[in-house]
Amino acid sequence: MAAGTETGADHIVEMEGITKKYGEVVALQDVTFNLRRNEVLALAGDNGAGKSTLIKCLAGAIHPDSGTIRVDGETVRIDNPRQAKDLGIETTFQDLAVAGNLTVTQNIFLGREEVNGYDSLLGVLNKKRMRKRAQELLDDLEIRVDVDEKVSNLSGGERQLVSISRTLLSDPKIVIMDEPTSALSVEGADRVLDLIDRMQNQGISIILISHNLDYIRRAADRIQILHQGQSAGILDGEQFDQDEIVKRMVGGMPEEEQSERAADA
Ligand SMILES: Nc1ncnc2c1ncn2[C@@H]1O[C@H](COP(=O)(O)OP(=O)(O)O)[C@@H](O)[C@H]1O
Ligand SMILES: [Mg+2]
Repeated sequence: MAAGTETGADHIVEMEGITKKYGEVVALQDVTFNLRRNEVLALAGDNGAGKSTLIKCLAGAIHPDSGTIRVDGETVRIDNPRQAKDLGIETTFQDLAVAGNLTVTQNIFLGREEVNGYDSLLGVLNKKRMRKRAQELLDDLEIRVDVDEKVSNLSGGERQLVSISRTLLSDPKIVIMDEPTSALSVEGADRVLDLIDRMQNQGISIILISHNLDYIRRAADRIQILHQGQSAGILDGEQFDQDEIVKRMVGGMPEEEQSERAADA
């Protein structure tokens, strides 16, 4: 499908003209990024290409210098992570964000309202409720880990599953995953990819940042490539040709596409 035939209604997220500079460093330059409803969209690119910066703009971790963001067709300002969550956007960041000395349940609820009064009588009731909710969440996702287990006793893959399941507590519409498999064994990554599949089946729209082209091929419907802060094109599933992806990661948008874009404008 030509880019021009797609309408905003097909997209749950539309980011347009996103630019972000850090002093002299241009992390993002006029980037357009659209996430279709219920797709898994991979974001690929070499180190420093701007992948994390782009998704941080959507997650409310940073604010772009310019550009617009629409969610469900509405122009939004996302100044902080709270506002992103309120829009149904949840994120797992690159570093494994779990606390080893806490249990699986405690990790899932970490930083949520329900934790208030953990040691009070009300706290005891809350604790039971949280444990039950955590168990339901993991059952739904077919994740078999003990909710009372300390996270430090889990494998890297299991920790990542817990970290991702945490994002699903609020029933998000959009989940962003920044390199969820990079620290994992093949088996651990396999389980995370299965989980991404199940999340998509539950209707969630997913942005997956990954370096691993095999994993991208397996999980993603489309891939958007960034190169030195600019878009290097979007490929559909059937075009997931390793050489083509690498060529764009290294060299950016092919010249013929650049002139097509110029002609469209
Ligand atoms: N907080 C920051 N301060 C200064 N420069 C940054 C900061 N975050 C990212 N950058 C720079 O912005 C560019 C894009 O970085 P990033 O989005 O992290 O890339 P990626 O996730 O694709 O590896 C890089 O040149 C990086 O050094
Ligand atoms: Mg990054």
